[in-house]
Amino acid sequence: MNVVILAAGMGKRMQSALPKVLHPLAGKPLLSHVIDTARGLSPAKLCVIYGHGGAAVLAQLEKEKQVPGTDISAALQEPQLGTGHAVMQALPVLDEAHPTLILYGDVPLTTSASLQRLVDAAGTDKLGILTVEQDDPYGLGRIVREGGQIVRIVEEKDASAEQRAIKEINSGIIVAPTARLKKWLAALQNNNAQGEYYLTDIVAQAVADGVPVVSANPGGVWEVAGVNSKVQLAQLERIHQLNIAQALLERGVTVMDPARIDVRGELICGRDVTIDVGCVFEGKVELADGVSVGAHSVLVNARIAGGVQIKPFCHIEDAVVGAKSIIGPYARLRPGTELAEDVHIGNFVEIKNSQIAAHSKANHLAYVGDSTVGSRVNVGAGVITCNYDGANKFRTVIEDDAFIGSDSQLVAPVTVGRGATIGAGTTLTKDAPAEQLTISRPKQLTIPGWKRPVKIKK
Ligand code: UD1
Ligand code: MG
Repeated sequence: MNVVILAAGMGKRMQSALPKVLHPLAGKPLLSHVIDTARGLSPAKLCVIYGHGGAAVLAQLEKEKQVPGTDISAALQEPQLGTGHAVMQALPVLDEAHPTLILYGDVPLTTSASLQRLVDAAGTDKLGILTVEQDDPYGLGRIVREGGQIVRIVEEKDASAEQRAIKEINSGIIVAPTARLKKWLAALQNNNAQGEYYLTDIVAQAVADGVPVVSANPGGVWEVAGVNSKVQLAQLERIHQLNIAQALLERGVTVMDPARIDVRGELICGRDVTIDVGCVFEGKVELADGVSVGAHSVLVNARIAGGVQIKPFCHIEDAVVGAKSIIGPYARLRPGTELAEDVHIGNFVEIKNSQIAAHSKANHLAYVGDSTVGSRVNVGAGVITCNYDGANKFRTVIEDDAFIGSDSQLVAPVTVGRGATIGAGTTLTKDAPAEQLTISRPKQLTIPGWKRPVKIKK
């Protein structure tokens, strides 16, 4: 089939400089949701009609083209004279051998299963409309039937009181035989309440030409819900997130409250994974068997191995965590963090661009950046790797079994040898030899007979 996505509308009610179809839902532009769904149907041609915010929409399409899948063409609609006029812009690229499916760039959650049902119902020679019954159909095109057969669609503004009482509405998603579509579009008139070329007027033409008009229903009303305002965007976000939580639960993930999880990307979970409330997952996140994620943690592009416990309030980005490690509460793993198995990273510890080998610990208030840390290393409270001189970054190497005393600063580039001990409070500026105690603290002194000053009486 051919797919045409209508995305030229302005979206005034979003109250935003960003074109409506580029507003994110689950971290991804509305239009990208529709493109992904369309590509899932393996169409012969895929054409996006753009208009308002053209440069930004085209830039997004360039990004989409980097992703493997059906090639995307774009057609400018300027000025915007209605949905029928919008589809006309795509005609030069459509393949007449296949029917054409029309989607909206601001209707993000239609499932490919529902679209496939519609396309199957229409076959190659019928006009198909995705319709749904709505309690409050205000503002939408009504499906007019005679003897059960669809005979036309009438827009709210053109409808009689009797037609306005109809609850079956046009979702806007329509599939039509392409050669017929061309003929019908060419014959459209704009003598209606809005002075627009309505795509919906092709229905009456199909009936006049003896082309059967069929309908299919989506799996849920939300599948055809469009976004016109931030209120509607927020409502759809919640529905979408609830659907994701539901799918996780069905796969055996313990989601403590399905109403309090946000997945803005791909979350892959093993068996016996537990996710507490208020967590956000962005990009591609993998949680292996037995992982638990504590409340209010944010994970972005992270790979968490089996049995890891992430305690509450952690921020983990572009990081790998080895099996059975314990992270947090209040830990921050920044990009380039690679932890081997059984590593403990405790409260208020920040790790960046560092590899930490098995069984090492940094449990309290430390910064480890641009470092290579061996196995069984203990990084004491308040330890800081001074990796940056204001212009350049340098590496710190801490070899196996080293012990770094509390409140030490390791001024990179510097190496702490295997099994070395760094005394608390040391400022290490030269390499520390293996197996020995290195300390830079001045010797402790006690002044005998020293008296505290007393307040001078006036
Ligand atoms: C349209 C349908 C209506 C349906 C409703 C569902 C028509 C005439 N009416 O009405 O039957 O119930 O959608 O939401 O088709 N667009 C363009 N170029 C244009 C006009 C619109 O690309 O010139 C795009 C918009 O960006 C949007 C979509 O087409 O994605 C629908 O446009 P909109 O103005 O919302 O149509 P409605 O009047 O709501
Ligand atoms: Mg609309």
